[in-house]
Amino acid sequence: MNFAAHPTSQSGTALMPEQAAQKAHTTIVADFTRSIPPMPPIFRARLCSSLSDLASDPNLDMHVRTSVSGGRQFDREAGLKWLAPRLGDKVLADRMTITNGTQSAMLLLLEALVGQNGLLLTEALSWGAVREVARRAHVKIRGLPIDDDGIIPDAFETACRDLRPKALYCNPTDQNPTTAVMPEMRRRQIAAIARHYGLAIIEDDALGRHHPDAPAPIASIAPDITWYVMGLTKCIAQGLRLAYIVGPSLADTQQVMGPASRLSFWAPNPLTTAIATRWIIDGTAEEICTAIRHESSKREELASSVLSEADLVSKPGAMHVWLRLSPAKDRHQLTASLKHKGVAVRPAELFAVDDTPVPNAVRLSLSSPLERSQVEHGLQIIATALQI
Ligand SMILES: Cc1ncc(COP(=O)(O)O)c(C=O)c1O
Repeated sequence: MNFAAHPTSQSGTALMPEQAAQKAHTTIVADFTRSIPPMPPIFRARLCSSLSDLASDPNLDMHVRTSVSGGRQFDREAGLKWLAPRLGDKVLADRMTITNGTQSAMLLLLEALVGQNGLLLTEALSWGAVREVARRAHVKIRGLPIDDDGIIPDAFETACRDLRPKALYCNPTDQNPTTAVMPEMRRRQIAAIARHYGLAIIEDDALGRHHPDAPAPIASIAPDITWYVMGLTKCIAQGLRLAYIVGPSLADTQQVMGPASRLSFWAPNPLTTAIATRWIIDGTAEEICTAIRHESSKREELASSVLSEADLVSKPGAMHVWLRLSPAKDRHQLTASLKHKGVAVRPAELFAVDDTPVPNAVRLSLSSPLERSQVEHGLQIIATALQI
């Protein structure tokens, strides 16, 4: 999120959209901008009980005395258990690194795999943080044309041949923002092209656990060239965020993570890690993830029904949907008029990774309002604004 683009409070602190609207005295009906999961009712009880269990651990103080670069073996093994529905159960813990989130994982990967002035390819529209992290790593970034199935292989091949990129970042399952789920054949084509041109693939499977029927990750098709990343932001909670990274091999993992091992900014927080590991082992993580998936399905069904006349791109259970607009409905005017009515959405520009023109569309993060009733109300306002 670009805080610089947000209004500030009197103290100069950047405001989140909800706070900004409050300051402008607009009543918030639904904030569809934030890509965070809904909060399942069981969450609070599970968190309180785990915190009180942890409080009775005689070694708790020693656990939090220091963080461990890349995570402890025990926590990495728990992480692999969490990833098993996507990657299978044969991955060894020495290929696994834990970081305090996907963004810091990306920074390490871009610095090591792409390097200063090297070129990273991505989907033309992507998670807003990618462009920002690439800028901080002094990495150049170029967007690839996409269709309803994700990256177009021919365009990827042409870019590999003409531009000599170092790596591809992609989000093949429920892509942010377009919701594309790349079919298996296309995953194979992308992997084959990357291998042919010597590119590393960074596969972000943030929403993979929410789409059990999605094709297997590229990392299981081409484990030798793929860095697989799954954070807990979308499955558990953004504030209990960790990211699990599986590298191609122990040697690759040491080469990429080793130089940063004495820096602590990316290390997983020990208390968060203790909760995540405990929840993975005792089934709470699965329970919370299932509850989030259930709520996401209800919200997505609501969007498909309320906006049934619109050109809505969506997937069952998707946390966000992509609303394509007719040329007669300008996305900036729509965003502004919705904001006036208390509904916040993100226009396509916010997902552009370079200066290529974007489609006339907006993303609705159905997951961010706390209540489903707010989602419904916000969707109705959008339907009226679209005059459908
Ligand atoms: C594609 C994608 N990956 C990862 C994340 C989560 O990142 P982090 O683990 O840093 O919270 C998000 C969250 O918005 C996302 O949209």
